[in-house]
Amino acid sequence: MLKKGSKLTLPQLWKTLSAGLQEAVSDFEKREFGLDTMSKYDFLSCEEIQQYINYEDEAGKYYRNLIHRDDSIVLKTIIWNRLATTPIHGHSSRGCWVLLTKGELIEKTFIRKDGKVFQTDEAILKPGEITYNHDAIGFHSMENPSKTEQAMTIHCYHPPYDVTSVMDEDGVIKRLPLTYYGEEGVI
Ligand SMILES: [Fe+2]
Repeated sequence: MLKKGSKLTLPQLWKTLSAGLQEAVSDFEKREFGLDTMSKYDFLSCEEIQQYINYEDEAGKYYRNLIHRDDSIVLKTIIWNRLATTPIHGHSSRGCWVLLTKGELIEKTFIRKDGKVFQTDEAILKPGEITYNHDAIGFHSMENPSKTEQAMTIHCYHPPYDVTSVMDEDGVIKRLPLTYYGEEGVI
């Protein structure tokens, strides 16, 4: 049992998320539990994450690294090189939580209506901040606007998924398999 106010290591983070999200019934309960748990992760002094930080130094690219997967969640870290940008994409049906651990990212959210794509929001994510999304909320894109600095995030998806929906600017959706640069610390 964790003491109130104590911080989570990486294995504690995935164990807590996995059990708690499985147990929570409503989307609201899951959302709150995920936000609270992610906010307790000790990203400033965590050393266990180092083995999962694998990437190549190429501008415009981002690198997914799988940390943990079970029946309830997928936990991954993404390393965002300078000017890396995702396409507009969807998420797990019950929730996706993203904690920014380094740098800055811009998140844009979108909806599709009558075959057209509309941007609904734009926010800057800073270290320690968490965003939440799922398929009923809409699609989003993320980008590292910096020309010099890398950014890093930790993502929890519930339930786990292997195929993502990517939407082009005309609102056409394609289903693409998710791939990882590194899996459980191995490239
Ligand atoms: Fe996303």
